[in-house]
Amino acid sequence: MRNKWYLFLLMLLCSIALHAGVFSLVPQPSSVQSGDGEFIFGKKLGVSVPTYEGDSLEAVIDRFSKGFEQSTGIKLKKGKKAQMNIVLNSKLPTEGYKLEIDKKEINIEVAAPAGLFYALQTLKQLMPRNVMAEVSDATTRRWSLPAVAISDSPRFGWRGFMLDEGRHFYGKEEIKKIIDLMASYKMNRFHWHLTEDQGWRIEIKKYPRLTEVGAWRNSKVLGWGDTKPDGIRYGGYYTREDVHEIVAYARERFIEIVPEVDIPGHSQAAVASYPGILACDIDKWHEVWLWQGVSADVINVAEPNAVRFAKDVIDELTEMFPFGYIHLGGDECPTIKWERNSRCRELLAEIGSKNYRDLQINFYKQLKEHIAAKPKKKQRKLIFWNEVLHGNTEPLGTDIAIMAWIGADRAAEAAASRGMTTILSPQIPYYINRRQSNLPTEPRSQGHGTETVEAVYNYIPMKGVAEKLQKQYLGVQANFWTEWVEDASTVQYLMLPRLAAVAEAGWTTQEQRDYNAFVERIQADTLYYRLKGLNYGKHIFK
Ligand code: ACM
Repeated sequence: MRNKWYLFLLMLLCSIALHAGVFSLVPQPSSVQSGDGEFIFGKKLGVSVPTYEGDSLEAVIDRFSKGFEQSTGIKLKKGKKAQMNIVLNSKLPTEGYKLEIDKKEINIEVAAPAGLFYALQTLKQLMPRNVMAEVSDATTRRWSLPAVAISDSPRFGWRGFMLDEGRHFYGKEEIKKIIDLMASYKMNRFHWHLTEDQGWRIEIKKYPRLTEVGAWRNSKVLGWGDTKPDGIRYGGYYTREDVHEIVAYARERFIEIVPEVDIPGHSQAAVASYPGILACDIDKWHEVWLWQGVSADVINVAEPNAVRFAKDVIDELTEMFPFGYIHLGGDECPTIKWERNSRCRELLAEIGSKNYRDLQINFYKQLKEHIAAKPKKKQRKLIFWNEVLHGNTEPLGTDIAIMAWIGADRAAEAAASRGMTTILSPQIPYYINRRQSNLPTEPRSQGHGTETVEAVYNYIPMKGVAEKLQKQYLGVQANFWTEWVEDASTVQYLMLPRLAAVAEAGWTTQEQRDYNAFVERIQADTLYYRLKGLNYGKHIFK
């Protein structure tokens, strides 16, 4: 008898797992139990929406309603008599939700608007992909949802994607497409790498030459090895109005933007715009860089006007981006020009150090103090790439975040041990601009073709990290560098579907992640990509 019960339980579990596998959901939710039958939509769908902080839940429904009607022709009607009921449950996490569908009703429980947004993303993934793409499909006459009970919440609060637009500029319509993709996969941080040696891409009112000069260069192609600059005038930047539009677009999709100005290294475009206040060698010629690599033409951190410049830029970023974080870069900053500069040498002695990296930290310290003096609403937390840990970080305190990319696992642990928060964005395999196979059809990019979808998927975040440090880990992020990537279509090709693999690492617990199941669940998304006009890597699609 005992054995029979055991067998019955095993069969039940297998059947649940099998049914769960049928749904093309990415990322995999915490719990999926399929029921009997389906909910069949009529021409209209009544929806009851509780009041929450004014009309913030209604706003989510209104946006959903527009896309849903566009794709299915079904009109949503708000009111008490409803088939779709949204209920508040303050016990759920902010981004969590419960979604229960039976033959008669759709019931959604959430604690906050973000949870409702994610419940509706899941609901759309349970339907044909034109619904997710918000594109009409006149051939379907009968719209339905499978009976299912889903309970879901994310593993990490930070599920990010970074795009480098310093090297190449794609424009706001492409950014909106990326934001849509991120939202579909329940990602919530768009890290916008806006400045580089090769281009400054954001209008700063107080320093107009940053975009008059710094946003343009005399080559589209960036030189490297046998590849020479082509002499074609190239560039572009985002105005305040563009930023405003993109910020609003991201907020509607529960994505925070993390703007990055990479200073004092990777700053040749800024130095070329204002050599009088930023250059270490004012008498030399400075231009927006035409080459790949790491330029030694960094900002003179011992120059008070350079510190003023950085503070002013932060002030304008604070106005433009109403979110929690500003990223100040800090990676790959050669110190050779500081070593040759008498003011830098004097300042190093003044702060009592022999390590030139500490000049960089001293620069950041002043910027952090500048932010700390602002009213609470205007305060922002600072993020740095992990090279900053090579200096004495004591002057910066622990209230900063470290984005770990090189030797990422060890760097993240070092940051967490120092009491800082950290984000895992390991160069290998989370730099999803790297080639995703060795096929001759692969576009020219960095890497050896080993950052396959599988390799990206199989990275294990926080592997072996002591439990007491785990709370310092904010989450995961895929990064996309664009030295070789001149057009948006190639960005999409390299990004997809690897973006979804990272999204799942951010959302789904490690025990529930399984590469083969992911490959099955994501098959349906080729239609989504095609309906949205997106290019994508075909390697894992049947
Ligand atoms: C980086 O890849 N230089 C952060």
